Amino acid sequence: MPLTFTNRLIAWQKRAGRHDLPWQKTRDPYRIWLSEIMLQQTQVSTVIPYYQRFLASFPDVQALAAAPIEAVIEHWAGLGYYARARNLHRCAQRVAAEFAGEFPQSAEQLAELPGIGRSTAAAIAAFAFGQRAAILDGNVKRVLCRQFGVEGFPGQAAIHNQLWELAERLLPAGDIEAYTQGLMDLGATLCGRSRPRCADCPVAADCIARRDGRQGELPTARPRPAVPERTASFALIVDDGRLLLERRPPSGLWGGLLVPPEGEVEGTLQRLGLNLIAQRPLPPLKHAFTHFRLTLHPVLCEVERSLTVGEPGLEWIALERAADAGVPAPIRKLIRQVANSRD
Ligand code: ADE
Repeated sequence: MPLTFTNRLIAWQKRAGRHDLPWQKTRDPYRIWLSEIMLQQTQVSTVIPYYQRFLASFPDVQALAAAPIEAVIEHWAGLGYYARARNLHRCAQRVAAEFAGEFPQSAEQLAELPGIGRSTAAAIAAFAFGQRAAILDGNVKRVLCRQFGVEGFPGQAAIHNQLWELAERLLPAGDIEAYTQGLMDLGATLCGRSRPRCADCPVAADCIARRDGRQGELPTARPRPAVPERTASFALIVDDGRLLLERRPPSGLWGGLLVPPEGEVEGTLQRLGLNLIAQRPLPPLKHAFTHFRLTLHPVLCEVERSLTVGEPGLEWIALERAADAGVPAPIRKLIRQVANSRD
């Protein structure tokens, strides 16, 4: 047999995977369904005692369907995500009423029942009925993204679809139970979110993330919400080797600091009572603040000598000293560039 991902995983599961979990000792769809629902958001070690107690009280789907919802919730208390318990109860009632107490065998039919998504349906169909169906939960997504170097956030529809297609293509012709369990075991035991144990991994030889040392970057994290982009123009008004700075209002961006006057050149010079001789746009400068990104558009302005600028809040400062006059960091960078370009 060729050493594919699928074949290696099956061989590894049989040799080194988990075989003694309580729901692995049965083909009873009721027990398998119950375990898969409990395991949807909860770890194996937490689930086991709940699973045992639950089965002791509700040994089959009819018993569960006939139980009052309060009794079901009581048995669920502590497992969290209580919508699961309500859907579980509804699902049991549907199976009892519509399917004469026998779970349907196809993943498609199972996926139409309350609380059973596409991946859970496939797991039940595989473990209970030996059906060839693909699972894709969070652990499996991590394994596939790393193994095949799938880029992009898996929560995005296009990536999600790509992963489902991949999961379908990888399915073995036989041994679906060992393969499905192997995917779960690998994700849960070796290919964890942090510190994957690649040295012990049966599919490390072909793993793209391992090859490129990118285990920490795959799967791609959820994109951070885009921060708003703002732009602002600044007039760098120079006269006789001095730069005009204006003190900002006490609150708001750069409150109380000295900064070149903000605004389009024409309006700004008019506001300041200055006459323009020449202007030259300088390269834009980007600066990241916590809650937004600012692109500064500086315009170097030469003005007619004027005595009218003596108002409070305005200061002419020698270009060589202006960078150190208590200006914000991106402005300091800007002033240094202007000062250097004149040397
Ligand atoms: N997580 C989800 N389904 C599981 C299963 N059948 N065994 C172990 N962990 C699981």
